[in-house]
Amino acid sequence: MDRSRAYDPMQIKLHWTIAILIAAQFLLYRIVLPGWHYLITTNDFFFTPGVIAHLTVGTLVLCLVLWRLWLRRHHVAPPPPDGFDPRLEAIALMVQRTTYGLMILIPLSGLIAYFGNLQPVSILHNALAVTLLGLIGMHASGALYHQFVRHDGLMRRMRIM
Ligand code: HEM
Repeated sequence: MDRSRAYDPMQIKLHWTIAILIAAQFLLYRIVLPGWHYLITTNDFFFTPGVIAHLTVGTLVLCLVLWRLWLRRHHVAPPPPDGFDPRLEAIALMVQRTTYGLMILIPLSGLIAYFGNLQPVSILHNALAVTLLGLIGMHASGALYHQFVRHDGLMRRMRIM
């Protein structure tokens, strides 16, 4: 098992690709609404371009996250920066693990809600997505704290080049 102080370049590419795809899903979530409302009012599928795009990007995120978790089994994350408070490290780890869990559960619940025409599952899907947004905010704040308060070079680990 590689315990180097760096992420594998593919892990870094996946991190930013997934981040961009998730940002697009949040910014453009409204494109799925007309097709979804048609489905729940008529019980008929209506694959608008918005529905197709939202489902495709969500499924892509799911596949990329599974790929990333698979890579992580062979290349573990680098250790925390020297002298970093273990309590903050524990919080960061919990945020990362929950983020991974949500990045799997959110696309799955979306697919189940849509293809099962299940409104309660769509409510869960939305609640999980709002939770993920909060976690991403915590995660990005943590990264900026390392960059601008601790100046410990942690952000360099996720630099593409
Ligand atoms: C949709 C947005 C994002 C998601 C879902 C996300 C998710 C994650 C996850 C799960 C990890 C842990 C990787 C691992 O060890 O396997 C990670 C690491 C990291 N992320 Fe993000 N991230 C996002 C956005 C950002 C942003 C905006 C920044 C910078 C402001 C950032 C900076 C970092 C850094 C520096 C690490 C490495 C931390 C370390 O080595 O301990 N991420 N990210």
